[in-house]
Amino acid sequence: MERRHFDTLVIGSGGGGLRAALQLAQGEANVAVVSKVFPTRSHTVAAQGGMNAALANVVPDNWHWHMYDTVKGSDYLGDQDAIEYMCRAASHLVVELEHAGVPFSRLPNGKIYQRPFGGQSQDFGGDQAARTCAAADRTGHAILHTLYQQNIHAKTHFFDEYFAIDLIRDEEDFILGAVVLNIATGEPLLIEAKTTLLATGGVGQLFRTNTNARINTGDGMAMALRAGIPVQDMEFFQFHPTGIAGKGMLITEGVRGEGGYLVNKDGERFMERYAPHAKDLASRDVVSRAIAIEIREGRGCGPDADHVLLKLEHLGPEVIKKRLPGILDMARTFANVDPIKEPIPVFPTAHYTMGGIPTNRFGQVVMPLEHSAEEAIPGLYAVGECACVSVHGANRLGGNSLLDIVVFGRAAGNHIIEFLKENRYHRPMKDEWVERALSRLARWEQSGEGESVDVLRDELQRTMEHYCGVFRTEEVLAEGVEKVKALAKRLDAVRLRDQSKVFNTARIEALELENLVSLGLATVKSALARQESRGAHSRMDYPDRDDERWMKHSLYFEDGRVEYKPVRTKPMSVDTFPPKPRVY
Ligand code: FUM
Repeated sequence: MERRHFDTLVIGSGGGGLRAALQLAQGEANVAVVSKVFPTRSHTVAAQGGMNAALANVVPDNWHWHMYDTVKGSDYLGDQDAIEYMCRAASHLVVELEHAGVPFSRLPNGKIYQRPFGGQSQDFGGDQAARTCAAADRTGHAILHTLYQQNIHAKTHFFDEYFAIDLIRDEEDFILGAVVLNIATGEPLLIEAKTTLLATGGVGQLFRTNTNARINTGDGMAMALRAGIPVQDMEFFQFHPTGIAGKGMLITEGVRGEGGYLVNKDGERFMERYAPHAKDLASRDVVSRAIAIEIREGRGCGPDADHVLLKLEHLGPEVIKKRLPGILDMARTFANVDPIKEPIPVFPTAHYTMGGIPTNRFGQVVMPLEHSAEEAIPGLYAVGECACVSVHGANRLGGNSLLDIVVFGRAAGNHIIEFLKENRYHRPMKDEWVERALSRLARWEQSGEGESVDVLRDELQRTMEHYCGVFRTEEVLAEGVEKVKALAKRLDAVRLRDQSKVFNTARIEALELENLVSLGLATVKSALARQESRGAHSRMDYPDRDDERWMKHSLYFEDGRVEYKPVRTKPMSVDTFPPKPRVY
């Protein structure tokens, strides 16, 4: 098998991976980025509304208010040291992106345009803030393309359309790189690296209706699980309030930020009842639940009363065309409505994985030890949606995900540069470790005789939607666990797409399904274990938040164990924000 050697292997080419790679390449490290798609097709490209930073270009703002909103938004499960670090770094990093070439929208005075987003406030819970820096409604697209161009300039090495099979781990628990598959040729490649960074994104494909790219199958998280590393807080999955009804594509929160609002079948602006102060700009978990309740209580719109309406006609064609051009296109193409003249039918849609691979704020992957201590796994890092640092806790605020990838991508890059100074040589590689990773591929050399990959994937997505959706109960979740376990068994005999010749893409679909099933189990088991309602995890049988018993992070291990570790409530330099009832 061909072997290549690098200082750092980055798996995933979204904003987190590319921001880390840029830091490394500019720091003279020899860095490779492996991506299963062409880099600018990574899912960051789909982020619409913007990136939060307290620039105060529109109304007064500061990073400490941003920190307060993020801690409150997380329903007090976010780690306050990491949140402080992120909010403090935000303004500097937006300006850095601007200088790198991101074409942010502008205010009449030439400053970066900022729009209000959900859960934002001035002065610790006061008036609405306007903190989300936007490039129209294509901010992720602008950032991803800029980071890619900068990486090309910095001479980052790209392996485009290579699928990561598994990590290589030695006897001392060092991570030594990964075996990857060249999708075009079907040839495996061993990439030996002194450090490996996982930046593979979230697992939105667990749910049938979602805003995610088809590539978001949680590959990095599943690789970590197979390497003996737990995944953290998987029960917290964000449902974005405004997906196109029945289809799921994202209609940015920026629509509500620009002044759009939701109505039920009676034309009532129902968010006034659920969040009298913030109304349509309450936090996402609050708005998604409100929509689900409106529909459950018979106030849904359309012949099947199965959605609500997002009104934006009153904004006028000029604002819609200038600030929301992508939404104009999407609504016309996928909802068959012209938002200049009529409202968009919307329903909550699976959007974001708050949980992931546990890391500290330097991006190092950490393992739990006794007595709440933890230790870093040498040479392994994770950033972005596949990681859980944890700045989003139980519910992420809109506009904080683009911020997360840029802040922690850079932080991990900086930490790796220091690590490389102390670890200058490649560690010895044994064949048996490589064989172990390769065996995962060998399993899919031949097709089974059972159901097809598509059938199982579809059933998994429907199962997760039904048994682990916006509202949850013990009984339904327990049934969900059994259903996903049964699916995992059926996976053994799965039939690949083309039986006469097994194409690489068919093998990859099977490998992705394997990843999805293991993360489906992690999600539904963690959700069953948590007997409280917090953020996006809403238990009808335990409707209240229970800080005494449950203010802790869950850790799910591949053998099915769920353990817990404390929330880091102590910030870096300011006072802790203690838990309070969360009202908007
Ligand atoms: O609504 C949106 O534009 C999504 C943004 C985000 O998830 O941060």
